[in-house]
Amino acid sequence: MNKQHIQVAIDGPASAGKSTVAKLVAKKFGYVYCDTGAMYRSVTLKAMHEKIDLTDETKIVAMLKQTKIAFTPGDPVQHVFVDDIEVTDDIRQPEITNSVSTVAKLAGVRHELVNRQREIADVGNIVMDGRDIGTAVLPNAQVKIYLIASVSERAERRYKENISKGINTPLEQLKKEIEIRDQKDSTRKVSPLTKAQDAIEVDTTSMSIDQVVEKITKIINERIKSE
Ligand code: DC
Repeated sequence: MNKQHIQVAIDGPASAGKSTVAKLVAKKFGYVYCDTGAMYRSVTLKAMHEKIDLTDETKIVAMLKQTKIAFTPGDPVQHVFVDDIEVTDDIRQPEITNSVSTVAKLAGVRHELVNRQREIADVGNIVMDGRDIGTAVLPNAQVKIYLIASVSERAERRYKENISKGINTPLEQLKKEIEIRDQKDSTRKVSPLTKAQDAIEVDTTSMSIDQVVEKITKIINERIKSE
């Protein structure tokens, strides 16, 4: 790691608000933002398009090695491209959301994506969000945040987000899907979702986005001062 670069790792379960908050924090500090979940989603999307069995690690890793995943800044969301084709909305569709954990547990996929994530972080100051950033991708990050929120709150957030995109999945179903994804992400063998020992836990259940951003801003400023 280049010592001059500030690395902010934001981890936590599905729909805890990581991407929204991470992007705002990155903007505030002028750091690069990297949504690693979008990378796992992109691999899942392409594998499904190519009708590859999502448990076939050899085929998926071979496909991934030939796949370009790129981001460009955007408001309110970052734009995501797979082989130069925009997939920003496609990777958020329910069929991808419900299949991505299967792909994310493949060691070969994680190995390749973690390498790419580290290359992105090498370029400059970064805010990166995901499940294993503080534990595996950037273990030396100066700031590690672990965002949590109750399942009900997370399901409600996803429900509102879906409605704004014209997706009408019932709230109860979303709750179940979130619980299943939490379970899969936390129990997989390679880099399961877990709080890094030195991460600061922030429970966002009754907090607004602005309040969470404010809290993380304070944490970063304190760390930068003490560096
Ligand atoms: O944050 P998200 O919902 O977009 O993440 C999509 C999936 O990718 C999630 O089910 C877990 C997985 N993921 C992961 O295993 N490691 C990461 N660093 C980021 C996401």
